[in-house]
Amino acid sequence: MAPTAEPPGGTAQIQLTGIQRLFHLGDSTVHALADIGLRITPGEYISVMGPSGSGKSTLLNVLGLLDRPDAGHYVLEGRDVTTLSPDEQARVRSQRIGFVFQSFHLVPRLTAAENIALPMVLAGIPAREREARVQQALAGFGLADRAGHRPDQLSGGQRQRVAIARATIMRPALLLADEPTGNLDRATGDEVIRLLEELNAGGVTLLMVTHDAALGARARRRILMEDGAIRRDETQPAPPQTPAQAPAHEATDARP
Ligand SMILES: Nc1ncnc2c1ncn2[C@@H]1O[C@H](COP(=O)(O)OP(=O)(O)OP(=O)(O)O)[C@@H](O)[C@H]1O
Ligand SMILES: [Mg+2]
Repeated sequence: MAPTAEPPGGTAQIQLTGIQRLFHLGDSTVHALADIGLRITPGEYISVMGPSGSGKSTLLNVLGLLDRPDAGHYVLEGRDVTTLSPDEQARVRSQRIGFVFQSFHLVPRLTAAENIALPMVLAGIPAREREARVQQALAGFGLADRAGHRPDQLSGGQRQRVAIARATIMRPALLLADEPTGNLDRATGDEVIRLLEELNAGGVTLLMVTHDAALGARARRRILMEDGAIRRDETQPAPPQTPAQAPAHEATDARP
């Protein structure tokens, strides 16, 4: 989808209203999500932070149609997806949403290429086109020489790149990442973040859960959750438009 310049408060890609998710354990009820309202416009970059158990993953699972709220409405691209059948939800998920997890969730017996192809197999895309798109993704994510490797033959960073390739092979409009760098060292994690940010710069909406304050601060919009509720939701002002500057080396490296 082409990136669109959205006016402030422009068309909502996502609108959550009164979303609740309850878990019953014995006599007690956990309000994993308590009356969440949230509006997201296309192309946003949002970090979600908050203490363990505050509902971050539950929120992402609801947004990713992996879990159903007990109350409230979720409107995705103008359509109320809360009331869809499981099959219809799976279809929307397949076409519009990519998910990246902390522990990669690759299929162990499949190669990198096969893992990346999987969403296209499920969507019924012809083999020829699948093959072309997998080759393109492998090259684009720096995995061309790892196509035939199974997940246990890949490094953590490579596994997450396969997972991101798989999550985006259907060209989703929304990319959800739940602690995507949680199992990676700093340098590898930074590389994964750069990939996600490039995808966001290309127009995909990016919602990322992280425990890392420095990572969270990279997002323009930062959401803080506590006890199943959104406690803060702040958007940084857009960086000022500066006139194009001459490359630094022209000014500093001109000496003989
Ligand atoms: N399947 C479940 N059954 C019962 N309770 C659950 C279930 N899933 C989540 N919860 C509870 O809901 C609350 C929110 O969980 P969630 O996984 O969304 O937290 P989180 O913010 O992602 O935490 P973390 O940072 O540790 O990943 C927690 O109190 C958790 O125990
Ligand atoms: Mg979580």
